Amino acid sequence: MKSPLPNRMISVSRAVLLAGGLVLGTNAFGDAQQESRPAPIDDPQVANAWRALRIVNCDRCHGKYYEGQSAPSIIAYVRNQSRDMFFRMLLDGDPPRGMPGYRNNPFVSKNIEGIYRYFTLRANGEISSSSRPKSD
Ligand code: HEC
Repeated sequence: MKSPLPNRMISVSRAVLLAGGLVLGTNAFGDAQQESRPAPIDDPQVANAWRALRIVNCDRCHGKYYEGQSAPSIIAYVRNQSRDMFFRMLLDGDPPRGMPGYRNNPFVSKNIEGIYRYFTLRANGEISSSSRPKSD
């Protein structure tokens, strides 16, 4: 025998869902937040780092996608080494072995945090080798 109770429960929960939908639909803050969240490569700090890397031409030795050429892969390096080692390598370099130090190069020194973020995002797959900022 059918009891009316389950039907009523269903319509009550439907009403709750509808009301919930209305609340969500008019929640402009939540919606705006979702729409405006940039892709990792469009995060301003990361996008600036991407540009700096191109200006300084790290790709000349590390390969078009920084995955290694005459010099080793930078992606593999951030995967295996500490943040401190990365900073030290960029600022001091390893001149006897062909890696310039960039301490006095503001494109690198001023963007170093973003550069590290760019490579860790590459290493964990959130940024692909061919990703470029929307504005570029
Ligand atoms: C003139 C060529 C050249 C350029 C330009 C260059 N590098 Fe290097 N880089 C090297 C070489 C060679 C090594 C390997 C040094 C060693 O074995 O100690 C290296 C090593 C590194 C390492 C450590 C990798 C490892 O496995 O030991 C990082 C990180 C790195 N470079 C980042 C950069 C970044 C970022 C830029 C641009 C800002 C850059 N390099 C520009 C030649 C270059």
